[in-house]
Amino acid sequence: MPRNASTRSRDGSRRRHASVLLLTCAAIAACVFAFASCSKKSSSDSGSESKPLVVGFSQIGAESSWRTAETKSIRDEADKRGIDLRLYDAQQKQENQIKAINSFIAQRVDAIILAPVVETGWEPVLMQAKAAGIPVILVDRGVKVSDESLYATLIASDFVAEGRMAAQWLAKALNGAGNIVELQGTPGSAPAIDRKRGFEEGIAPHAGLKITRSQTGEFTRAKGKEVMEAFLKAAPGQINAVYAHNDDMALGAIQAIEEAGLKPGTDILIVSIDGVRAAFEAMVAGKLNCTVECNPLLGPAAFDAVEKVLAGETLPKNIVVQDRVFDQSTAAEVIDSREY
Ligand code: AHR
Repeated sequence: MPRNASTRSRDGSRRRHASVLLLTCAAIAACVFAFASCSKKSSSDSGSESKPLVVGFSQIGAESSWRTAETKSIRDEADKRGIDLRLYDAQQKQENQIKAINSFIAQRVDAIILAPVVETGWEPVLMQAKAAGIPVILVDRGVKVSDESLYATLIASDFVAEGRMAAQWLAKALNGAGNIVELQGTPGSAPAIDRKRGFEEGIAPHAGLKITRSQTGEFTRAKGKEVMEAFLKAAPGQINAVYAHNDDMALGAIQAIEEAGLKPGTDILIVSIDGVRAAFEAMVAGKLNCTVECNPLLGPAAFDAVEKVLAGETLPKNIVVQDRVFDQSTAAEVIDSREY
């Protein structure tokens, strides 16, 4: 073959390869695009056109690291599922939560997720959501209403059981006798009411155990510290243990105890609830004795519930999150596996 002919043939074959490559790339790109739009549709579309689900989330605020972990879990899960999440932080005020729900109704969202700051006072706004045909999923805290059809389900821990577990651990550690001070959560909130009740039930069989002082620390570290300072001043040398309704208040109490020249975890035993990373660090350091887990990673369960209820399924009225007890004996071993 003449040199020119051979060069032409090589060029032709290169061009053919290039076009095949180009066509293959285009085909792959088209498949990826089709798959992406398909999966978006399946996760978010209930009608004919591809439109993401719109979900309003009325969150209480950011009072504790538990709350921050819950918000993140719900945000992350919404992102993962391609859901348009409208999140409103109520700054601890029920009136702000009611305003947010009214605004969700006006925006005609597909569903509402509500973490209610307190138990009572929800009936009128929940009735409005029901009248608008918008299902409400309660997360983390319950409400007191006369008609349970006002919400689709409540996904939460059993706060009474948590209080009982804390009491049982402490009763054993104190050999059934001692003065306990209690740091309560937000007044009127389900966890404050139920954790108090559960703890009282748990210590009831031990006549030597007494709650000598009890006050709200509003679930925050700063207020927990302030209240503990007052307790220590009012009853110097007379406190054997602290029961805090959450870890953040316990961490504040630890600071107050140290500033008073005492050793938290030794001079005064401390048991709390949540199981956040900082609590595990405090247990590893010997400053906190025990934490009862309360899992805040509610995003996956919340959006499963949203999708099921929008698909017409009836959900159980209460989906109970299972929790465990951790103390210093296992803290170092499990700390790295903690997700929040
Ligand atoms: O409702 C759950 C409680 O609220 C958590 O225990 C506490 O940390 C939070 O702020």
